[in-house]
Amino acid sequence: MKDKKVDLSIEFCGVKFKNPFLLASSPVSNSAEMVEKAYEAGWSGVAFKTLNSDRIPIIHPSPRMNSYHYGHKKLVGLQNVEQISDRPLKDNLLDFLYLKKKYPDHVMISSIMGFSNDEWEYLAKISEDNGADMLELNFSCPHMCVEGTGHHVGKAFDLIEKFTSTVKKAVGIPVIAKMTPNITDMTEPALYAKNGGADAISAINTVSGISEVGLDDMVPKPNIFGIGAISGTSGPAVKPIGLHFIADMAKCQDLALPLCGIGGIETWIDALEYMLLGASTIQVCTGIIHYGYRIVEDMIEGLTDFMIDKGISKVDNLVGLALKNLDTTDKFDLERQGVTEYDLDRCVGCGQCYIICKDAAGQALDWDEKLRQPKLIEDKCLSCMICSFVCPVPGLISFREMPGNWQRNETKVMDESLEAELKYSPYQP
Ligand SMILES: Cc1cc2nc3c(=O)[nH]c(=O)nc-3n(C[C@H](O)[C@H](O)[C@H](O)COP(=O)(O)O)c2cc1C
Repeated sequence: MKDKKVDLSIEFCGVKFKNPFLLASSPVSNSAEMVEKAYEAGWSGVAFKTLNSDRIPIIHPSPRMNSYHYGHKKLVGLQNVEQISDRPLKDNLLDFLYLKKKYPDHVMISSIMGFSNDEWEYLAKISEDNGADMLELNFSCPHMCVEGTGHHVGKAFDLIEKFTSTVKKAVGIPVIAKMTPNITDMTEPALYAKNGGADAISAINTVSGISEVGLDDMVPKPNIFGIGAISGTSGPAVKPIGLHFIADMAKCQDLALPLCGIGGIETWIDALEYMLLGASTIQVCTGIIHYGYRIVEDMIEGLTDFMIDKGISKVDNLVGLALKNLDTTDKFDLERQGVTEYDLDRCVGCGQCYIICKDAAGQALDWDEKLRQPKLIEDKCLSCMICSFVCPVPGLISFREMPGNWQRNETKVMDESLEAELKYSPYQP
């Protein structure tokens, strides 16, 4: 039996977390009653549902979410038009006090969104005064009904700097800026947040999207009494976008701030991928909406086992380990090429690989009717690997590098005699 002693605790902006797993600001962190249950399950902290100052009453649209199922896979995405907290500020602050008293070693992050400079300052101060260990500035909600808030700020970079700086002057606790993914380059707004004094960046909030349109009523979902809207998509469908932005920011030497990864995390593997690309903590919303708080048990166990296997004793030694292997596509070694390899003893004869290679790849498979098996024509294989994506037997089709002098066959044209009619001359730059 291997010794199960690894240290999952991590420091983030000088604040100690028992493990890297936090609740994201959302319905899963809406009240102390809920957060308490999450803490008991193993979560180390919470970004509480974004506070409202009560100046403008918050009314959530109804219904406020739509599931995005794809084929047999449930909730590959979630569409939501939820606003910030509709609870009275006083109730939320009382919940902060309760949680801090009962769980002093769990980290309370107050997520705030102001509607003006003054309001940012007010919400920051009142959070600190009532026990918040850190602040998260919500610059990123894609569907706030009030102009000048949410992702509108996240896209107006000077406002990010201004509001961050206002908050930093108002409080002594660390400040995280939460970024919108609804831009092309996140390093730029992150640098504005840094100029404003941000101690860390969290990303991503939801991705602006429309995941489904009702076919009977022709209203994008969720259908709010006949009206749909471009709104926030979350869940596994957005993980590639979250990983991209975290990796980009982790690579940005001018930024050099701790990162909190969010977006499509459901398992310890998702969480670990964010960490390998530079996030030191992670937050989860849709994964909990799908499976409940208990997923953290698997996250803790999976990460622990992985670290034991790799001989890594402290979780922060994992942070950013994949970054050295991340480069731009022009750095690929194109001299090295490979083909697919088939372990045909395990083939079930379904023919999916053959169909897909014919319809979408290099025409590199023949089909042996008698054996009901594919036969690879090596020099036609493009190594696109799509046959392995559709094969129902895990690991049956793998990648094999070919020797340096190996060459793929030239492309086939259907009728070479048509050359006589061809109007063509090679491009001369
Ligand atoms: C229903 C819903 C409500 C949300 N409310 C907030 C919020 O109040 N403040 C905030 O910063 N992010 C909010 N988010 C965004 C999440 O915190 C998170 O950034 C996003 O959902 C991506 O993570 P996920 O894929 O784990 O859900 C909300 C997300 C959902 C689905």
